[in-house]
Amino acid sequence: MAPVKVRKICCIGAGYVGGPTCAVIALKCPHITVTIVDLNKARVDAWNSPDFDLPIYEPGLEDVVRQARGKNLFFSTDVDKGIEEADLIFVSVNTPTKKSGVGAGFAADLNYVELATRRIAAVANSSKIVVEKSTVPCRTAESMRTILEANSKPNCRFDILSNPEFLAEGTAIQDLFAPDRVLIGSLQTPEGKDACEALRSVYANWVPSERILTVGLWSSELSKLAANAMLAQRISSINALSAICEATGANIDEVAYAVGKDSRVGPKFLRASVGFGGSCFQKDILNLVYLSESLHLPEVAAYWRQVVEMNEYQKRRFSKRVVDTLFNTITGKKIAVLGFAFKADTGDTRESAAITLIKNFQAEKAFVTIYDPQVPHAQIWEDLKEASPHLTLEQIQKQVTITSSAVEACNKAEAVVIATEWKEFREIDWQDIHSRMSKPAFLFDGRLLVDAEKLRTIGFKVTTIGRGEVL
Ligand code: UDX
Ligand code: ADP
Repeated sequence: MAPVKVRKICCIGAGYVGGPTCAVIALKCPHITVTIVDLNKARVDAWNSPDFDLPIYEPGLEDVVRQARGKNLFFSTDVDKGIEEADLIFVSVNTPTKKSGVGAGFAADLNYVELATRRIAAVANSSKIVVEKSTVPCRTAESMRTILEANSKPNCRFDILSNPEFLAEGTAIQDLFAPDRVLIGSLQTPEGKDACEALRSVYANWVPSERILTVGLWSSELSKLAANAMLAQRISSINALSAICEATGANIDEVAYAVGKDSRVGPKFLRASVGFGGSCFQKDILNLVYLSESLHLPEVAAYWRQVVEMNEYQKRRFSKRVVDTLFNTITGKKIAVLGFAFKADTGDTRESAAITLIKNFQAEKAFVTIYDPQVPHAQIWEDLKEASPHLTLEQIQKQVTITSSAVEACNKAEAVVIATEWKEFREIDWQDIHSRMSKPAFLFDGRLLVDAEKLRTIGFKVTTIGRGEVL
């Protein structure tokens, strides 16, 4: 049997992964019809909005959607029709960490993956290649295969592939146009290899063949967790060193620069910060921890868990530094938090360090003002509500205000905390901000973003991650 020639692709899940990935596939493969389906009507409507008011903010995305939408790229809530017509289906639904039951706090909630898989089995009347695109724990593909095989109709065969996404938010389009690698995992059977070839030929439309790696199904699933765990580990390592710098007067920027110059280490992902966030790092490490424990490998579990614990410590340590510097109390003081997204160039707030910082400031009874250039206000309220389930929204709003500009957030504030590295915070008129703040005006740079020396000459008392005063 020759590999299927892919003509129609359906992507289940129009989120941060499925949306950009399949929009780029449509752009790069004009001969393939790509339909992205989602149960969430509001999200689909936004993808279809006449003025391209897309549901996610991602530089370059609008341009891709403008070029392909209506030609060979479609967004729809008709999940069944999408499944039925496609010869290849990406499953790109959400896989949050479980909140209750077995493995709560660690294991991934695979309910959405299972429901989507069952839907494919129920609806499909012809053979399909089913591609696991969501971040999932190892062996999920195996479960999907079991569900599909147990529920398939006669003459319907399902081949499962794992094709993890390595795009980073904020640079997703760049990452998709020129990926370091595309990873495709398949069963090593003739049918599995044919399915792998079918997907490989889709990416081959724009990705050089040496960058398309084909491996076994489990290796592919584990590689995704491993890549994210190792990236996060670099950040926790540099953040652990930032604590030593603060205590000794060494400068973490200089240390990272010196260490990164070793070509075996390399310069990327060594930027000390208030802590990593995002939908992947913590979730994937916790998946790895859970997997290790299930495999009776407690030392391996403890090793990876520490990467997450260091991240929590970094957020706690930073919050404490704010309180200590403001004369050991922030009760009743106004703290402006600039940035709420988990990193710059995205409106995504999942696991954002800002959420923890603000929660800590609330606990110290400070008044907090928040400004972020992209995150919708409703999202901020939702996140703060989820972080403090014992408080009502009204109670939270007595202490927290969201503003529409950085200047407004900083007005009469005792301290400014930079939580996200938005470029616009570097370019702010800090002289003007300083003149509006209570004195002494404190600034806490959680992202190594601003020129601390310059701000000190304006009059700010500046505290930076990874830099101490002891010499
Ligand atoms: C990550 C992976 O990079 C990507 O390959 C995977 O597919 C999904 O998870 P993402 O979460 O979008 O992508 O963002 P990333 O750029 O990796 O940043 C994650 C967090 O680490 C952010 O909060 C960021 O601010 C922080 N970070 C990153 C640092 O604190 N220091 C650094 O040097 C780099
Ligand atoms: P990610 O960052 O992994 O893309 P998101 O939460 O942004 O995650 O997107 C996942 C999308 O999948 C959501 O828009 C959700 O509505 C959609 N989804 C979840 N389950 C199903 C399903 N069974 N059928 C269709 N769409 C689904």
